[in-house]
Amino acid sequence: TKGNYRHFMLKEIHEQPVVVAQTLQSYLRPVEAKVALPQMDFDLSAVERVVIVACGTASYVGMIGKYWIESLARLPVEVDVASEFRYREPVLDGKLLGVVVSQSGETADTLAALQHMQAAGVMTAGIVNVPTSSMARTVDLLLPTHAGPEIGVASTKAFTCQLAVMAALAVNLARAKGRLDGDAERELVAHLTEVPAYMNTALAAEAAIEAVAHHVSQARDVLYLGRGPEYPMALEGALKLKEISYIHAEGYASGEMKHGPIALIDDSVPLIVLAPSGPLFDKTVSNMQEARARGARVILISDAAGIAEAGEGTVATIEMPSVHPLIAPLVYAVPIQLLAYHVAVLKGTDVDQPRNLAKSVTVE
Ligand code: M6R
Repeated sequence: TKGNYRHFMLKEIHEQPVVVAQTLQSYLRPVEAKVALPQMDFDLSAVERVVIVACGTASYVGMIGKYWIESLARLPVEVDVASEFRYREPVLDGKLLGVVVSQSGETADTLAALQHMQAAGVMTAGIVNVPTSSMARTVDLLLPTHAGPEIGVASTKAFTCQLAVMAALAVNLARAKGRLDGDAERELVAHLTEVPAYMNTALAAEAAIEAVAHHVSQARDVLYLGRGPEYPMALEGALKLKEISYIHAEGYASGEMKHGPIALIDDSVPLIVLAPSGPLFDKTVSNMQEARARGARVILISDAAGIAEAGEGTVATIEMPSVHPLIAPLVYAVPIQLLAYHVAVLKGTDVDQPRNLAKSVTVE
């Protein structure tokens, strides 16, 4: 049931601290300060390359996983949407780990991609929410998410639980590849353990986010910008808004702005910038200022330090807690979900059952 919530989506957004904690619990060993994956009969230290395949929101988990696995484990990672992967004659030799990501475990293209990898002799792992699903039963290594049933067509809690498992996989691969000493792992485990509390802080910004929704609900087009792992988050923000509010939205890597999308900017276009402070913050801010100089109505989602530095001249800011870069995507998921949700409510659309969409896409 929806309990006291108006929509399943809102309930599922608010469940995230609990279900992400549940999911992390099965991957973190806080006493030893280690990450642990389920028992497997292959050797992760032999992996030399990772290929991640998924659709939609789950494919953004793959893109974020690429940033994490490459930086932590120094393994090359390829990410593809399943509908392209299965037909593009991918090169699958070498010591490859194939990873699929799927809430339902039934998405036709992802399942076919999984079967394709297995037929080529690739070891596969699956980050899957439905334990009885076809993918859960097919993968060599099941990495379950414990999000519980997700009813809203727009994925929210399944997404953040997938990110939690992807982070655990990245840390595990880093250790297996000899790239992480005990102290470094302890530190990352501590940051992951903090995620549910920071998600609660992010949820507490809901009233501010609801106010920002008024700046977005009248727009015809909306742009999202992010850099690093926040680039896939920009794609996710845009997808979420499109799905449930029917407003045209696109996400871009901040640095790509001036290579085309800036031509779209005028004073009717809200520009949502996802920019936790950190080494690349100033670069994103300069991309944001370029757009602002052309009239963009900037909504900056950042932490207190970021807002103090760059909040001037924006139409609104949404303050997030200051967090370690590894966990920023999990925390920043909350404001982009809530923003899409409140815009859709203002527009009066069918939030849980948006037009033309199905919860599980079992035909290609
Ligand atoms: O069940 P799956 O995770 O395999 O589904 C993949 C996509 O269909 C799904 O993430 C879709 O993009 C959502 N509607 C996004 O909110």
